[in-house]
Amino acid sequence: MIKGRRSIRDFHDGEIPDEHLRLILEAGIWAPSGSNLQPWEFVLVKDRNLLEKIKLFSPGLFGRPATIIIICINRKISERAGKIGELMSLMDISMAAENIMLMAYALGIGSCPVASFNKIAVKELLDLPAHVEPALIITLGYPKELPKPPKRRSLEEVVHVDRF
Ligand SMILES: Cc1cc2nc3c(=O)[nH]c(=O)nc-3n(C[C@H](O)[C@H](O)[C@H](O)COP(=O)(O)O)c2cc1C
Repeated sequence: MIKGRRSIRDFHDGEIPDEHLRLILEAGIWAPSGSNLQPWEFVLVKDRNLLEKIKLFSPGLFGRPATIIIICINRKISERAGKIGELMSLMDISMAAENIMLMAYALGIGSCPVASFNKIAVKELLDLPAHVEPALIITLGYPKELPKPPKRRSLEEVVHVDRF
């Protein structure tokens, strides 16, 4: 599952059934988080007009996904961890993001994480309260093609035993 998931940037038309969206979002909330704070909020965007508007502000968002999940950080929750909360919440939502993408893949649904988007514009478009910060978009849809896996740095290069 881990090796097979690819970032998908070209989608077929086709709605994702609500029960699959639920499984995908549920995978998100079962991610680990620092002190179990769960500082995430998930904004599901299904409305085609809204999606097209978000695309205008998102140079990193490719294709026409059926839906997107905007993973946000709830700063009222993350600041309970003190100063480290800012960094930790990014780790937390990243864990949720990977769970989401792996569950989507398990259901035959393609996804792509998108960090390249205008946060101020998206915040305004979605009426996010001041303490809720959009952090990462996950696109979801049925893949038109399965891209070749981009190369990984080898284990020999990245693993350091006992000393760097
Ligand atoms: C934090 C993060 C941000 C990313 N942002 C974008 C993005 O804005 N646009 C995009 O097309 N892909 C984005 N990607 C996807 C990466 O390009 C992709 O994961 C990488 O090339 C490896 O390919 P794979 O996911 O198919 O294994 C992002 C990935 C991560 C983890």
